Amino acid sequence: MFQANLSPDGDIVTLSGDGSTARFHAIWLRDNAWDDATRAPGNGQRLIALRDIDAGIKITEARMTEGQLHLTFAPENRSIAYDPAWLMAHSYDRAEGRAPGWLADGAEAWDASMMDNVPTGDFAAVQRNPSARRDWLAQIARYGFAKLENGPVEDGALFKVVDLFGHVRRTNYGAKFEVRTEVNPTNLAYTGLGLQAHTDNPYRDPVPTVQVLYCLESTAAGGENMVVDGFASARRLRDESPEWFDVLSQHCANFEYAGEAGVRLQSRRPMIELDPDGALRAVRFNNRSAAAITDVPFDVMPTYYAAYRRLGEIIDDPAMEVSFRLNPGESFLVDNTRVLHARKGYSGAGTRWFQGCYADMDGVRSTLAALQSPQQEAAE
Ligand code: FE2
Repeated sequence: MFQANLSPDGDIVTLSGDGSTARFHAIWLRDNAWDDATRAPGNGQRLIALRDIDAGIKITEARMTEGQLHLTFAPENRSIAYDPAWLMAHSYDRAEGRAPGWLADGAEAWDASMMDNVPTGDFAAVQRNPSARRDWLAQIARYGFAKLENGPVEDGALFKVVDLFGHVRRTNYGAKFEVRTEVNPTNLAYTGLGLQAHTDNPYRDPVPTVQVLYCLESTAAGGENMVVDGFASARRLRDESPEWFDVLSQHCANFEYAGEAGVRLQSRRPMIELDPDGALRAVRFNNRSAAAITDVPFDVMPTYYAAYRRLGEIIDDPAMEVSFRLNPGESFLVDNTRVLHARKGYSGAGTRWFQGCYADMDGVRSTLAALQSPQQEAAE
């Protein structure tokens, strides 16, 4: 049971019910009306622009009738009905003061303790069963990565993984790229080397926000894949030294790739990127494509390098890493704005054949939200 209270000046409605209270401004309420003259009934798109709403708008009456909140606006002199539950779900009346580096969108930071509980889905189940697909995508949204097991062992199978939520992002590397390694004792020192954990393609702007790596062949011992939560790493840096966290989030690094003719990809973005309200947005970390950093003031550069070094040490700390071995038909997907990945070194001879491709997190989040919608749940 909701109650509404209108301020004497007609500017603010205070809504209480279900144990919570929230204030709403007249201008916000009018802009967020869901009547047929404000929102298209079929697709929900807004039919008016802000210029259609009087800057001095007031509410002249607020009353609850049959579970709906009825507001009368002036000078329009129209009454519009609102669903109070929708209003409460979209409340913006909260206490300020979140420290920079907070996690939005239900994300959860993790470290090596998640090793025994690697987020995983079964290929056939995720493909056929909406609730299995929802659960697999929810893990990606929460943790920034997940494995997929029991998939087909065939060229291009990774595209079937992308089909589960979105579209391939083609780049100058093509729709997919091959990662083939012959490992034998004479060249082990070269091809069998592990790589430092990194995010892919920080020299693109925007970066591809999803990477899929799909195993088609793996006979060499070792060569496990490992992942590190960039958000957990950034937050650990913040907890150790807010100054170092700030220096990496408040200055841009430079990244570049010019490894083939006709290509010179360059970006100027921070290693730790925050939204304007301090939410962690992205981590970029890749020693191979870091370019000369030129946008850090002279006096700040020593601090910047100390922070950069420490972030790398945190990323290299085994306490942060989750590793797993992929067998043919198994793949994993990372949120490339958040989770760093790497391959560990080999300890024996054999071959390894992976295919990789890029896609985007908006598809993951969109498919997940659609699968979580009440209509979908009612259909199951
Ligand atoms: Fe990579």
